[in-house]
Amino acid sequence: MSRIQQTAVVGAGTMGNGIAHVFALHGHDVTLIDVDQDRLDAAVTTIEENLNRQVDKDKIGSGEREEALDRLQTTTDTAEGVADVGLAVEAVPEEQELKAEIFGTLDRHAPDDAILASNTSSISITWIAAQTERPARVIGMHFFNPVPVMTLVEVVRGQRTSEATFDTVSGLAEELDKKPVEVEDYPGFVSNRVLMPMINEAVFCVMEGVADPDDIDTVMTLGMNHPMGPLTLADFIGLDVCLHIMEVLHEELGDDKYRPCPLLRRKVTAGQLGRKTGEGFFSYDA
Ligand code: CAA
Repeated sequence: MSRIQQTAVVGAGTMGNGIAHVFALHGHDVTLIDVDQDRLDAAVTTIEENLNRQVDKDKIGSGEREEALDRLQTTTDTAEGVADVGLAVEAVPEEQELKAEIFGTLDRHAPDDAILASNTSSISITWIAAQTERPARVIGMHFFNPVPVMTLVEVVRGQRTSEATFDTVSGLAEELDKKPVEVEDYPGFVSNRVLMPMINEAVFCVMEGVADPDDIDTVMTLGMNHPMGPLTLADFIGLDVCLHIMEVLHEELGDDKYRPCPLLRRKVTAGQLGRKTGEGFFSYDA
């Protein structure tokens, strides 16, 4: 076990509750932090349901479920929540201003030797680190949805991330039964640099009438053995998130091969964001 026992997760959305779930299940005392108490309550319910699912599938015992829930607490007070941590993992929406504010708060209130990690999928770790007085102890820890199931963690080195921070976080990922992969701080890292242009191209196929959404997904599930087709996956991730990442790739790499498909933009403008709004490339029950 690494020296880090106390962990905070900031942001109780889908990624945040999944990250808190795996830390608690692997022996960490976890404080889940959010400004919204209702979201915290909903996150704990989701974690309970997902732990139940793992018990039902014999992945964990009911004792492990209880111990994980005992190790989990919540607060709306960020300063208090990070006062004793060895690690804080931020998983709030992908807005630069919000990240800057949160990392400023974490930097002021977490112990000096604590590591501050971001689950960002598209914002530069070097930029996030520059919002703090401890850039050597800031790093990317990029998990994948659903976090309890997906075994990858991209461990992203910012320009000034230290070797010690990198080694600690890679070791922690292994303790969580994840596979850490070392990635440099370039737009989209590896995951979204490769995934998002594929999704964007699938949207171009819809727009140009190459095939309908069902058939495009069937080509990729049956032809390439992907567990989900690119359009189902886009709906799962959120079309707003996909568009945002394409915009980051386009702007920061400056190559028109990353231009977002106009149909992707149109759906986002119309509020058809995928599963979370009940409508994306496919329709979902409420
Ligand atoms: N918590 C715990 N267990 C869960 C779970 C959760 N939230 N969600 C699913 N599971 C478990 C199920 O219980 C099931 O367990 P068994 O294998 O023991 O039966 C297993 O996961 C598979 O789930 P299902 O049977 O319900 O459904 P499925 O076989 O269709 O798999 C899936 C669902 C795992 C999501 C699969 O479709 C998949 O891998 N899809 C691709 C997901 C993906 O690409 N994610 C990355 C998105 S990109 C991202 O996150 C980062 C970014 O920056 C945008």
